[in-house]
Amino acid sequence: MSIGVVLGTRPEIIKLASVIEALDREALDHCLIHTNQHYDRELDARFFEELELEPAEVNLRVGSGSHGRQTAMMLELIEAEVESRRLDHVIVQGDTNSGLAGALAAAKMPCTVSHVEAGLRSFDLRMPEEINRRLIDHLADELFPPTDRAAEELRKESVPGHVHPAFGNTVVDAVLRYAGRRDVPAEERGGYVLMTLHRPENVDDPATLEEMLGAVATVAEEHDLDVVFPAHPRTVRRIEEHGLKLPARIEAGEPKGFRELLDLQAGANVVMTDSGGLQEESCVLGTPSVVMRRTTDRPETVAVGASILAGVSAAGIIEAGGDAIARAGTSWAQPFGDGRSGERIVASIASR
Ligand code: UD1
Repeated sequence: MSIGVVLGTRPEIIKLASVIEALDREALDHCLIHTNQHYDRELDARFFEELELEPAEVNLRVGSGSHGRQTAMMLELIEAEVESRRLDHVIVQGDTNSGLAGALAAAKMPCTVSHVEAGLRSFDLRMPEEINRRLIDHLADELFPPTDRAAEELRKESVPGHVHPAFGNTVVDAVLRYAGRRDVPAEERGGYVLMTLHRPENVDDPATLEEMLGAVATVAEEHDLDVVFPAHPRTVRRIEEHGLKLPARIEAGEPKGFRELLDLQAGANVVMTDSGGLQEESCVLGTPSVVMRRTTDRPETVAVGASILAGVSAAGIIEAGGDAIARAGTSWAQPFGDGRSGERIVASIASR
């Protein structure tokens, strides 16, 4: 078996790290194909270093572009790699354009496609990720849902591939390995809100972005907290383009490295975010989160009491902020597994 692992963005590096490590440990023949959808050092090389991964053997240098152009370029280049390297198995993760291109190129070769983190659904087709993940799930031969709920979604859709039992989410593998602290008592928290925002539907429209920033600043003021805001390059650009002025309490900074961001999440009084990754990580770390989106593809964190789905209006965000801050220091059941998901996924791939 010759395996290609396709990745391209920061969350894929984090969530495939334990899978790659298990492939190494099992001495399964594999190579990393990096599309370079993310290319800035803070979103890319820094994560390879922190997660102790060798640089990818193949770098396709696709970079940014419209969805169609970016995915098309990846598709053509991944197809050539699968062919020239005679790969018979491709592993993709999640719902990015890199994941879709990897799955689509491989599925037509033919080649076995494994999908890590299968079965997530927001039921909002305005999100490009919702389109990507549905297509990947229907192209994949081996589907690895993180939770029973995700497995159930796949069965409801009658996907043609094999749906494995829920082995947990590989994000837990990375968090448990690299987090310096977890479950920080309420009185030892740092007196700040950790905020991230990057989704196009939130940051591309100036009125929405301004309302959301204002609402987070209000939460911080009402509870006398600062706001730490590691900003995605897309968001920085939009703030500049829209000519927005950040409210006084909000301090924008560079994107953080993985370990630093885990530490910041663990010590925050609340995490306010539109990132699915932070929603999962803060749940594992014992910090309550406010999910600033209309829908969530991770309802598990809401069900256990780790997150509140706030929507994107100021009133919803302000109310959820206060409720979530009151939950700091409480504990909840962990919905995403025990930190050995990558190992189980690779054992399953090796045995088939
Ligand atoms: C992508 C994923 C999203 C994931 C996110 C994590 C898709 C459709 N979306 O969104 O699911 O949650 O990654 O961050 O695949 N940019 C830079 N430097 C970089 C990369 C991007 O400045 O290294 C800027 C560019 O202006 C680019 C914009 O960010 O156009 C958006 O990047 P892109 O990779 O298209 O989408 P993300 O919003 O990062």
